[in-house]
Amino acid sequence: MRNAMDQFTLRDLQYIESLHGELSPVFAKMDEQGAKDSIPIVATAVGRALFVLVRATGAKRVVEVGTAIGYSALWMALALPPDGRIVTIDPDRERTARARAFWKEAGVSDRIEVRNARALDELPRLDGPFDLAFIDALKPEYEGYLAATLPLLRAGGTVVVDNLLWDGRASGAVAADDASTNAIREFNRKFVKHPSLDATILPVGDGFGIGVKR
Ligand code: DHB
Ligand code: MG
Repeated sequence: MRNAMDQFTLRDLQYIESLHGELSPVFAKMDEQGAKDSIPIVATAVGRALFVLVRATGAKRVVEVGTAIGYSALWMALALPPDGRIVTIDPDRERTARARAFWKEAGVSDRIEVRNARALDELPRLDGPFDLAFIDALKPEYEGYLAATLPLLRAGGTVVVDNLLWDGRASGAVAADDASTNAIREFNRKFVKHPSLDATILPVGDGFGIGVKR
């Protein structure tokens, strides 16, 4: 295995972030609320990667599993063309109400439709095809989300997955044997060898899974 991880440090990540400069006030507010209320929010680097990926793939229809307060959806919505659309699924109405207010403030609320339901129930009710899917909700359900999402994705469409390194617990660098950790480990084994995907996991944020449907 060849890589640069033995040289690359937190300082390098801070350097990259410093090149980008301050986040816009709405993202900063979301980060602040997420930290205060212990609501999981993707790493800033994941937000930026989602933005560039939506632009690179020219995605117009996006499905997201796990809205929370709308941070990742906002990054993707800002990258969409004006007629692009995101369907985002989360059963927590309190969180998605906060998400809507942030999207409104950012001027993209007309690009995002919320479905307040459990994703495993809602995904089979959606009409595809989607160009891009982002999975970021309950870790023990990741395999189910992928199975329900793939039929909705067009051939050549992209699936992105958050938290595949799970703060060092997936690799065992941080000892853990709980249901979420074991589910992520099992998911990762299947994801990178999935017969319907060309996929890998990038060390961006907390582990950025990316796959293209065959
Ligand atoms: C958790 C979930 C996430 O999606 C995340 O990005 C970070 C933490 C969690 O459930 O703890
Ligand atoms: Mg996450």
